[in-house]
Amino acid sequence: MANNNIDGKFKDKDVLSLTQFSIQDLQQLFRLTKKIKYSHDFSSSLRGKLVTLLFYEPSSRTFGSFAAAVKRLGGNTIDILDPKSFSSVSKGETLEDTIKVFESYSDAIVIRHPEIGAAQKAASAAEIPIINAGDGIGEHPTQALLDLFTIYENCGKLDNLTGVIAGDILNGRTVHSLIKGLTKFKKNTLFLLSPKSLRLTRGEYEKLLRNIDLIEIDAEKDLPKNADFWYWTRVQKERFQSIDNYNKVKHQFVVTKKLIDTYAGKKTILMHPLPRVGEILEEVDDDPRALYLKTQVKNGMFVRMALLILVLGKK
Ligand code: NCD
Repeated sequence: MANNNIDGKFKDKDVLSLTQFSIQDLQQLFRLTKKIKYSHDFSSSLRGKLVTLLFYEPSSRTFGSFAAAVKRLGGNTIDILDPKSFSSVSKGETLEDTIKVFESYSDAIVIRHPEIGAAQKAASAAEIPIINAGDGIGEHPTQALLDLFTIYENCGKLDNLTGVIAGDILNGRTVHSLIKGLTKFKKNTLFLLSPKSLRLTRGEYEKLLRNIDLIEIDAEKDLPKNADFWYWTRVQKERFQSIDNYNKVKHQFVVTKKLIDTYAGKKTILMHPLPRVGEILEEVDDDPRALYLKTQVKNGMFVRMALLILVLGKK
C-alpha cells in the first residue's frame, strides 16, 4: 500500500483506501464527477470493458451503483453475488485463486468481503485494478468518495468543517474511510457520537488524527449547534458476537424531527450511507436537508463512474 498513492495517476491503480488520495486527486475526481453529473456524455467511455463485481457480503446499493456506473459508461459486468454459496468458493477455493480466474476474464474487479484486508490481498494476487467495495470493518473508500463529494457540493469546501458522525464508529467501515478523507484537509472538527463501546480504535489512525479535532461524545445534549453535516450510521449487527449486546446499543441515537430542530442548523446536511434500520425516522425524509435517499445515492453512481473512467477508461 505504501507506494500505491494515486498522485495524479489513476490509470490502472488499485483503489483500496482513502489514504491513497491526495487533495489534488480528490479535486481531479470531483471535477470529472461534476462533468458527468451535469450532462456531459460519457456513455462510451468504458465500451468494450468488462468489470467483475465479486461480492462476498450482501449489498444492494454499492453493487447496484457499480453495475449502473459500468453500464452507463458502455461497459459490462460479470456479477458474482455470494460466491460462498454459488461458486467454486463453496468447494474451498482460495480468494487468490478466485481473483486470478476472474482476472482472466475482466479488466477490473470490484470486491466486497467480510475480512479486513481482503481487498489488499486480492490486489496482491492480481495485475488488473482491484476496487475495494468494503473489507469487513476496514474501509469502504468509494462510499467515502461519494460522501466527500456530497459534502463538497453542499458546503462548498472540505476544510474548516464541523461535522457529526454518529452510530457505530468502531465497526463502520464507511466512517473509517470518511475520517481518513477528512483528515487531509485543514481545521476539520468531528463530533463522534456513539455508545462508549462503539468508539474508534485509534491504532492505525494515531498519526492521521493529529490533523483533525475529534471530540467523542455519548449524549445528544453534547451535540454542536449548526454543524455543517451530520453523518448517521447503522449499528453493524453482523459484527457483533452476541445479539443481546447488539440490542443494547442498536437504537441509542435516533434522528427525529425534534433532534434536528434542536441541534441542526438551516444549512446542516443530513447524510447516511444506508441501509438505515431505524436510526433516522421517516418523518425526517422530506426535510430539504435530508440527502441520504436521493442526492447521496445518485452521487454514488456519478463518483463511481468518474473513478472507473480514471482507472480504466479512455476519456
Ligand atoms: C455500508 C456498508 O456496506 O458498509 N453500506 C453501503 O455500502 N452503502 C453501510 C452499512 O452497511 O451500514
